[in-house]
Amino acid sequence: MTKKDFIWDIVVRVTHWTTAALFLSNYFLTEEGGQLHQWFGYIVIAVVCIRLLWGLIARSPARLSAFKPSVPQALEHLKEVLVTKKDEHVGHNPAGAIMIWLMWFLILSTAGSGWLSETDWFWGEDWMVELHEFFANATMAAVTIHISAIILMSKLTKFAYVRTMLWRPRG
Ligand code: HEM
Ligand code: HEM
Repeated sequence: MTKKDFIWDIVVRVTHWTTAALFLSNYFLTEEGGQLHQWFGYIVIAVVCIRLLWGLIARSPARLSAFKPSVPQALEHLKEVLVTKKDEHVGHNPAGAIMIWLMWFLILSTAGSGWLSETDWFWGEDWMVELHEFFANATMAAVTIHISAIILMSKLTKFAYVRTMLWRPRG
């Protein structure tokens, strides 16, 4: 498959937009610590776990071993893109790979610390809620970089990255 025709499989697309919608709802809309907030957070954990399990069995660019994080490779890739204005990777490129592993770690840490703050072990411990807030803000910072990087890369390489998370154009 060439890069031009590539679309992420249905598991990646559904888990991506569900995670994005629930994360943003919990960050901006739901009552902090309320019932809906807690449920949305638990669903985010489940959805990210489904995506990670899918990454163990899929034989496609969605496979986790297809985008192992490597800082030297990411820097090399960024240099190449700046010079050639081309990104030939089908699936996640090495710079995206780092961001994606970081986002998964931060999302799970956000929801995990929220869950822990509600358990008997950490009930009433202010530092756990503060840790939860820290992770929520760190995830938001990573998401902002994620979206900015997609806009910048799309302009630089003239490739519509968002399309790969949507659907195949007709015809
Ligand atoms: C995607 C997942 C989540 C996001 C983005 C998120 C985000 C946030 C944010 C931004 C706050 C406000 C922090 C502050 O300024 O004090 C907050 C508070 C809180 N969250 Fe979450 N949260 C998530 C999941 C969860 C889960 C799974 C639980 C528990 C099961 C939870 C329980 C709480 C609690 C107890 C508070 C503190 C409310 C208070 O100040 O009394 N959160 N969350
Ligand atoms: C309007 C907002 C967003 C857009 C346009 C967008 C777009 C994209 C695109 C195009 C990719 C594939 C990148 C590639 O080709 O390597 C991607 C991947 C990803 N995005 Fe977003 N995204 C958005 C919001 C979010 C949010 C809010 C989160 C997290 C809360 C998020 C987390 C991820 C993750 C974890 C991946 C990796 C997907 C996987 O391999 O399963 N995104 N996003």
